[in-house]
Amino acid sequence: MSHVMNTYARQPVAFVRGEGVWLWDEAGKKYLDALAGIAVNTLGYAHPRFVKAITERVKSGIVHTSNLFRIPEQEAAADRIAAITGLDEVFFCNSGLEANEAAIKVARKYGHDRGVAEPAIIVMEKAFHGRSLATLSATGSRKVQAGFEPLVSGFVRVPLNDLDAVRQIAEHNKNVVAVFIEPIQGEGGINVSRLDYLRDLYAICQKKEWLFMCDEVQCGLGRTGKWFVYQHAGFLPDVVPLAKGLASGIPVGACVVGGRAKGVFKPGNHGSTFGGNPLAMTGVVTTIDTIKEENLMANATRVGDLVMSSLKSQIGNSVAEIRGMGLMIGVELKEPCGELVKQALDAGLVINVTADNVVRLLPPLVMSEAEGRQVLERLVPLVKAFLDKRAAA
Ligand SMILES: Cc1ncc(COP(=O)(O)O)c(C=O)c1O
Repeated sequence: MSHVMNTYARQPVAFVRGEGVWLWDEAGKKYLDALAGIAVNTLGYAHPRFVKAITERVKSGIVHTSNLFRIPEQEAAADRIAAITGLDEVFFCNSGLEANEAAIKVARKYGHDRGVAEPAIIVMEKAFHGRSLATLSATGSRKVQAGFEPLVSGFVRVPLNDLDAVRQIAEHNKNVVAVFIEPIQGEGGINVSRLDYLRDLYAICQKKEWLFMCDEVQCGLGRTGKWFVYQHAGFLPDVVPLAKGLASGIPVGACVVGGRAKGVFKPGNHGSTFGGNPLAMTGVVTTIDTIKEENLMANATRVGDLVMSSLKSQIGNSVAEIRGMGLMIGVELKEPCGELVKQALDAGLVINVTADNVVRLLPPLVMSEAEGRQVLERLVPLVKAFLDKRAAA
C-alpha cells in the first residue's frame, strides 16, 4: 500500500523517461504527450538547453541561498518577466496558488491603502485559482470549496463574458477594488473570454480605479501564440500571476505587478523561503530565452491551428464545441467522457478530461506539425468510437 495521501484519482502509469514530446513508461511503452504535465513542460522533455542549464546550476553548488541576500539569477529572471509582461515588479513563489494568493493580498492592500476597510474582488464563475483557503474561495467551483467552509470572504462572483453583471456591481458595491479573471479558463473547461469583453472589462477597471488581475497561470507563457492572453486584447493588466509553464517543470510561481499595483507591497508585506531560488530562476531564464529563440509562440499558433481546424473538420459536427487558442484546446462532448483518458493511454496518447466532459489538450510548445497530426490520428478515432457507442446505447 502506498503512503502517498489519496488526493488524486491516478492512472496506473508511471513515466520514467522523456524526450521532446514523447514519454516512456516503466514497461518501455511509448506515449505522445498532449498534456505537458498540465501546461507545465513548456520545452517538452530533456530539452538540451534546459538539461545543460539546470545541470550547470546544480554543479555550481548553488541551488538555494536565501532571499536575505541578492540573487543574481532572480534579478535576471525578473528582468525577463518584466520585458515579456510589460509590467514592473515580480514577486517569486513556488506555485500557481501562491502567485494568486499574492495577487489577492495585493488587491486587499491596495484597497486598504485607499481607505476601503473591507475590500472585495470580482471573480468569475467556473474559474480555478488554486486550493489554498483564499484561492479556493476565489475559485468558481463548489466541488473545490465543499468541506472547507468557512470560505474566505471578500469575493463577488459573476459569469464569464457577462459585462452587465460587472456593471451592476460597479454601481452598487463600493467595496470592490479589483477584478480577478482567468482569461481562458483551463480547469473550468477551456472557456475563452471574448477579447472585446476583456477590453470593456479593462475600461471599467480603469474608470473605477480597480486593479485588473489576470490569472495566466495555465494560459500564459506563449501557449496561445503570444506571451499572454491579455496581449491578444491589447492592454496592460495591473497584476498577472504566473506559474506552471514558467520554468518547464521546476516548481515556480510569480506574481507580476505594474500600473496601479506597482509599489503596493512594501518590505515585510510578503515572503517565501524558496521563492526565486537560483535553481528555479535558472529554469525561468532558460524557458523564456528558449521560447524566444526557438520561436515557440509562432509554433504554438501553427500547430494549434492545425490541430484545432482538423478537429473541427473531423468531429466538429458530432461534439458540443471545439474551442481554445494556440496549444490550449478543449473538445466539449455532450456527456461525461472521463473514460477517454484511459483509452488514450492505451492508444499511447496522454490527454486530460476536465469539467467532466471536456477533452483538454495542452501539449509542450515544442510539438511539431507532424506530431500534432499524430495527436489527431490517435485522438479522433477514440472520440468517434466513444460517440458511436453512446449513439448505440
Ligand atoms: C489558472 C490557474 N490558476 C491557478 C492554479 C493553481 O496552480 P497550482 O496547482 O500550481 O497551485 C491553476 C492550476 O491548475 C490554474 O490552472
